[in-house]
Amino acid sequence: MRLGIGRWATFGIALLFFVATFLYSESNYGPSFGPSIAAAQQTPSGLESNPTAGNVPGGSRGNNAGGTIWNNIRNGAEGTVSIQDDKAARLIQSEGQIWRNFRSGPLMKYGAWAMLGIVALLAIFFLVRGRIKIEAGKSGTTITRFALIERIGHWTLASSFIILAISGLNTLYGRYVLLPILGPDAFGAISIWGKIAHNYVGFAFMVGLVMVFVMWVMNNLPTKTDIAWIFRGGGMFSKHSHPPARKFNAGQKILFWLVIVIGVSLSTTGISLMFPFEIALFAKTFAFMNFFGFELPTNLTVIQEMQFAQAWHAIQAIAMVVVIIAHIYIGSVGMEGAFGAVGSGEVDLNWAREHHSIWVEELEQAEKNTEPSGNVAEAPAE
Ligand code: HEM
Repeated sequence: MRLGIGRWATFGIALLFFVATFLYSESNYGPSFGPSIAAAQQTPSGLESNPTAGNVPGGSRGNNAGGTIWNNIRNGAEGTVSIQDDKAARLIQSEGQIWRNFRSGPLMKYGAWAMLGIVALLAIFFLVRGRIKIEAGKSGTTITRFALIERIGHWTLASSFIILAISGLNTLYGRYVLLPILGPDAFGAISIWGKIAHNYVGFAFMVGLVMVFVMWVMNNLPTKTDIAWIFRGGGMFSKHSHPPARKFNAGQKILFWLVIVIGVSLSTTGISLMFPFEIALFAKTFAFMNFFGFELPTNLTVIQEMQFAQAWHAIQAIAMVVVIIAHIYIGSVGMEGAFGAVGSGEVDLNWAREHHSIWVEELEQAEKNTEPSGNVAEAPAE
């Protein structure tokens, strides 16, 4: 392609304009970023010793600043204040922009993909595998899977989590998804109530978490059977395959530990967000992680602490929502006979034999060891 003279001329003018702009920005008159950042680093506090010589920065019309003092402030330079709130000594907290960009960027984007992704995966799984049936059909006999107190623990945890998940996701996505549909009045009312619910229901979640942990931790310790269960994919991907399992299979154990670990971390970050600037979790955690080769910042301001708490709280909440969507699927539509375990507490014997064979054998053995009169027979020698 050949360029005509007119185009060469336009190109030349554009180049000149570009060079002139560049030179101007590097001159003393234009805004200059590099030197001022260096200046900010020269003194420990980030402030020049006497940058304005006692005058109003930039003169009364603000046209004489040379950028330096504002750049120092932008880079986190702090002054002193006589009120008790140290945060007021910093005019601009630039990390706030990083946090906001993360929150309204990757967090929302990848969070939405993860949640929609798991729904899509489950839909495909359902189309391919269908509902996992009780292969031998219902026996008509049921056995008790969970006592009332276990079900209360499960539903305290589950119902509180669902409220927290919905109100939390509304805080993150609501203004983009619900506001245009509901309008500002209804959306405002829902969001205020959602926020109040989120704050208080968090405590019910913690109660449920402790109950479930205490009641089920012993049944969720790893055993050798779990390895075989994992290698056979839990029998989920092929019909007529039922790897042996105790009261909880390896998949359930993984869910249990994810719920406990993420649940504890969600609770602690949640409490620190509920009482702003009171609890600093991240500087110490980062210092600990740095022993293992990380290079994380340990000199965090109280505002940065809150920003990390919010970001980590949200990341974990979305991870937990993804895990729980899969759990709800398999505990309801995905598997025939499972819901009774946390509904009435009773499950069909054939369901139990297929999914938790060792657990059923142990129960039957224990029953055999109990005399019909109710006396416990001597336990066989091990
Ligand atoms: C509508 C929502 C839910 C349904 C239908 C449901 C269903 C079930 C069922 C059927 C079981 C027993 C499985 C078995 O007997 O082997 C179970 C257990 C369990 N659920 Fe849920 N659940 C729900 C929500 C939740 C939530 C929100 C959490 C945690 C935040 C949770 C945590 C657990 C845990 C830790 C277990 C024990 C491990 C397991 O069986 O997977 N559940 N759930």
